[in-house]
Amino acid sequence: MANDEENVGNVKKLLARVFELSLQATVPDETDVEPIVTASTVGRFGDYQCNNAMGLFSKLKGKGGGQFRGPPAVGQAIMKNLPQTEMIESCSVAGPGFVNVSILKMLLDGIDTWAPKLSIKRAVVDFSSPNIAKEMHVGHLRSTIIGDTIARMLEFSHVDVLRRNHVGDWGTQFGMLIEHLFEKFPNIEAVNETAIGDLQAFYKASKQRFDDDSEFKERAQKAVVRLQGGEKRYRDAWAQICAISRREFDSVYKRLKVELEEKGESFYNPFIPSVIEGLTNQGLVEESEGARVIFLEGFNIPLIVVKSDGGYNYASTDLTALWYRLNEEKAEWIIYVTDVGQQQHFEMVFKAAKIAGWLPTEANKYPRTSHVGFGLVLGEDGKRFRTRSTEVVRLVDLLDEAKSRSKAVLEEREKDKDWTKEEIDQTAEAVGYGAVKYADLKNNRLTNYTFNFDQMLSDKGNTAVYLLYAHARICSIIRKSGKDVEELKKTGVLSLEHQDERVLGLHLLRFSEIVEEACTNLLPNILCEYLYNLSENFSKFYSNCQVIGSAEETSRLLLCEATAMVMRKCFFLLGITPVYKI
Ligand code: ARG
Repeated sequence: MANDEENVGNVKKLLARVFELSLQATVPDETDVEPIVTASTVGRFGDYQCNNAMGLFSKLKGKGGGQFRGPPAVGQAIMKNLPQTEMIESCSVAGPGFVNVSILKMLLDGIDTWAPKLSIKRAVVDFSSPNIAKEMHVGHLRSTIIGDTIARMLEFSHVDVLRRNHVGDWGTQFGMLIEHLFEKFPNIEAVNETAIGDLQAFYKASKQRFDDDSEFKERAQKAVVRLQGGEKRYRDAWAQICAISRREFDSVYKRLKVELEEKGESFYNPFIPSVIEGLTNQGLVEESEGARVIFLEGFNIPLIVVKSDGGYNYASTDLTALWYRLNEEKAEWIIYVTDVGQQQHFEMVFKAAKIAGWLPTEANKYPRTSHVGFGLVLGEDGKRFRTRSTEVVRLVDLLDEAKSRSKAVLEEREKDKDWTKEEIDQTAEAVGYGAVKYADLKNNRLTNYTFNFDQMLSDKGNTAVYLLYAHARICSIIRKSGKDVEELKKTGVLSLEHQDERVLGLHLLRFSEIVEEACTNLLPNILCEYLYNLSENFSKFYSNCQVIGSAEETSRLLLCEATAMVMRKCFFLLGITPVYKI
């Protein structure tokens, strides 16, 4: 039983499998007994328990007796028939036949064997996805943070994740951008970032020209056609504008340590005609007011797939991208992370794909698609988040401010006296960016949240700062003990006697269940809540149980180490860099 392969996955599920074998051996004639396994709430007897004895006893009695004298006897038999497994350290029967098992040993066996087991090999996470030349706003920041965590949880679960940046790099706005570029820089080879300056301002200026000057407007419209026709001068100008935007996006990704692979809207252009043709041949596409559309039951507007001017749109691209991800990239789960405002768009695209037979109609069957929607980021005034000086918040400025604020705190605490400049800088970054990420992830993503530096950078309450400090404190307890914790892991025994030790140990054991829940439901806040409670349980343990110098020192140091290990894994999954000293 006890090979590594079988240690992978959700503890509760694994135990259920073990108990199933035991039940089969205990009552071979009963074919439909589902093992009932729960986490023990008292914890005095074990970590998990099997609750089948009572029900099984009455069932057997109803059939005219059976070989057992009472539920405890059934419990004893279930325990006796448990297969040998390294997962279970010890077991006992309590009360009316509850079979309790202790599985603490797993805590120290290395956390990577705790990953959820999913039935899919490959997923696409479509996230961040800002638009060229338009502002990358806080909505995109949310998408970047939430999408990265979802990708990390899937990767942890051994899924091959294609991290897709579906940037808006195509569309009619490029006509005016290119014309404006030609106008301002007749010699476009010389154009670079510094020449254009702020791309957003450039966008605004060209929009102004477009709205004010009908002759310019006409040229811009022609430019779109020439761009789509692949004319070199136009393609080059387009590529130039994209490159400038891309550099700006990359500086945000670099700060946040987020990996993304760009396949922008333009990538799918060559595939659109045949995809639309396929759908048309299936009889899905109809003519409506000059456009070509797909009517979908349950929606009061149709999905427009070819505009009345013959051009393609957001939906044509998304249908084609979905087709590509399913057929070319062989993705089984395709996840889109955008604000809730786009929910209907995705519902319509998914529905069309189901009607076309690309996706099974049953929910939860693979291949499947999910839209991960999120709410707004609000300012102090309760309105959409903006700063005083500009209408939109520049993400880079936001991150810089988070960093410099946490740096100021470190300097205030005179850390610069014994830390190197580099240490200060790295810690300020870990804490500052971690705070921004955590403030976003800890809320159920569908709710709006208020962006508040003071709150997110506070070292009290449910913040990254509090959690990172808690982790650093645990590390310092271990350091102060002067013991080699890796040695202790090999030789020491971890046993939980005190109530607060048990609560903490049991909470640690739930880690894999929680990751599975957060991952399969696409809800990072579940993991945040787990992490926060873990830290609270640790504080309680630490204030009531002496670690260094106590008779239980070894066991308690191991418990500290297990806690730090699980915390670091949570940080990792949330994209937060841990700190080891404070
Ligand atoms: N560029 C879009 C926006 O900024 C988000 C794209 C999301 N992904 C997609 N496949 N449509 O709103």
